[in-house]
Amino acid sequence: METWIKHLLLQSLMQNLQNFNYSQNAPAFLPRNNEDDNQINFPDLYKLKICSSPETPYIFGVHKGMLTLYDFNNDIRNGINFDWIKQWNYHRIKNYSLKKEPFAKALGIKGNKISTIWDLTFGTGKDAILLLHFGARVVGFERNKTVSILIKDALRASQKDDVLNKVLNEKLTFIAEDPSRSHNLEVFNNTPHAIYIDPMYSPKTKTAKSRKEMEIFKHIVGPDNDSVELFNFAIKHSSRVVVKRSLHAEELVRNPDIIYKGKSTRYDVYLKKIKVNKHD
Ligand SMILES: C[S@@+](CC[C@H](N)C(=O)[O-])C[C@H]1O[C@@H](n2cnc3c(N)ncnc32)[C@H](O)[C@@H]1O
Repeated sequence: METWIKHLLLQSLMQNLQNFNYSQNAPAFLPRNNEDDNQINFPDLYKLKICSSPETPYIFGVHKGMLTLYDFNNDIRNGINFDWIKQWNYHRIKNYSLKKEPFAKALGIKGNKISTIWDLTFGTGKDAILLLHFGARVVGFERNKTVSILIKDALRASQKDDVLNKVLNEKLTFIAEDPSRSHNLEVFNNTPHAIYIDPMYSPKTKTAKSRKEMEIFKHIVGPDNDSVELFNFAIKHSSRVVVKRSLHAEELVRNPDIIYKGKSTRYDVYLKKIKVNKHD
């Protein structure tokens, strides 16, 4: 793209951002312990260091009323934001059967009771929105600050849809932290029915080029090289841990107890065997 066009686009993004009330309260958002994300507003948002490498200028702008992240080095027209209303409406017209869906089966979600699922790798919130659609309660964790800002804006933007907003208020708790370092865990007295992990995976073989938006997301987050530690944390907190993998990817941890396969995805289920004392 021509530099002058980029600069024009950048100017208009910055103007939109100036008028944008980012600090408006979003429901169900717990700030990180030591940084109050509510305090970030323009021009702090603009100055925020998003990538560790200074030559990769990612910038926030506003697109159709949503906070959007753009890669200034590439095509500035394609940014990412998390449009949960779109996701929610997509699921609404699908006729899912909990008995048939590998994702629901892996997590043990059934129609007759409300399950509480901890989603330790919240990311775009796409999987969490599906879990909410399945009727589960979700406690979501995300450690990446930039991703957490986009999540916070997704929560704000979802207020426009009354049904979704009610579900989010009643059934989603979001924590912008790594759960293994969280001081917020004691807030949840209940142990979750299952814990879900979907770490960023860097396959050894090349896959088809993902969409531009996904490229931005992958670049910001980077590979989650510590996901085995996250698994170890998870198995301490629940008797059922589910790890998402692409269909033919290697296991995160060997010997899952059950495997559920979808078209392109696999859910590896690990069950913690609780020793039962004969006299109990
Ligand atoms: C592949 S993405 C998850 C995608 C997600 N399932 C979705 O529906 O969009 C992995 C995400 O987990 C986050 N993550 C990885 N390890 C984490 C940890 N220990 N604590 C919190 N978040 C973590 C990453 O920052 C990234 O946003």
